[in-house]
Amino acid sequence: MEDLLAEARRARANAYAPYSNFSVGAAVLAGGRTFTGVNVENAAYPIGVCAERVAIAAAVTAGERDVAAIAVVGSAQQPTPPCGGCRQFIFEFGPDVVVVTEAEDGRRAQWRIADLLPDAFGPSFLE
Ligand code: THU
Repeated sequence: MEDLLAEARRARANAYAPYSNFSVGAAVLAGGRTFTGVNVENAAYPIGVCAERVAIAAAVTAGERDVAAIAVVGSAQQPTPPCGGCRQFIFEFGPDVVVVTEAEDGRRAQWRIADLLPDAFGPSFLE
């Protein structure tokens, strides 16, 4: 978790957040490899993407779907949890994905994705 948080913090420096000024970095551990992502905003506001989704998309693009954990580092005073849409996006890869987040002052929070998204709709509904 230490390494994953450090990767997310490092990635955050590349966030493109000129509208919100809220930079987020994410790092995914999948298949023993690490993939990072940042939020990428857009002048057409709603099409901006969150760091978590970019990081997961990078893992999937590389052929890794066995997501074990995702670290998120935002710019808030408190640990930044994934937004609702990202919770759904993460849940796709299993109820046991660990989500860890750290604030500037070192405070951390950690959950299982299923606990962040109770009674989730997921792949099992489409079997
Ligand atoms: N953001 C993320 O990248 N991840 C989150 O979990 C929370 C929000 C981004 C979206 C937007 O670019 C900015 O933070 C402010 O909402």
